[in-house]
Amino acid sequence: MRTDTGTRTEVFRTVVQDILDEHAAESWPLIAVLQEIQHRIGYIPPEAVPLVASRLRLFPGEVEGVITFYSQLRDRPQGRTVVRACRGTACHVSGGTAVLRALEDELGIREGEATPDREYSLETVACVGACGLAPNVIVDDDVYGSMTARKARQLLQKDGDES
Ligand code: FES
Repeated sequence: MRTDTGTRTEVFRTVVQDILDEHAAESWPLIAVLQEIQHRIGYIPPEAVPLVASRLRLFPGEVEGVITFYSQLRDRPQGRTVVRACRGTACHVSGGTAVLRALEDELGIREGEATPDREYSLETVACVGACGLAPNVIVDDDVYGSMTARKARQLLQKDGDES
């Protein structure tokens, strides 16, 4: 019996092989290939790493290193709503860690994860340039300043009520 995971892996393989074929003539296509995989799949699944490494004659660790290094590349699925807690210095010293913990508790996920229904994902970001309002939480493109753990929970509950 075929499992969803098996089918998913086959689909990912086909997509990744197609992308590698499309970039076969390029001299250093790694970044372009990874960006295209993320564009088509939504993130770079672990199944893609050995395929990309093998075709481009790299070690899998080198491919993983590039994915980790470039903040715009994701190795996990992203939620429809992206919640980001600022981890810059001003936010950190103003209670940012407690805010992040409240977000994790409210969503039931840790930083870097998405909820099982893919409604939310939780990330941290470097300073977003609103240090005067620290600590800050960013929901999609909206910045919410002067956050506390309680306000962060209310923010997510309010967002859930609107959807
Ligand atoms: S440190 Fe968070 S906005 Fe600057």
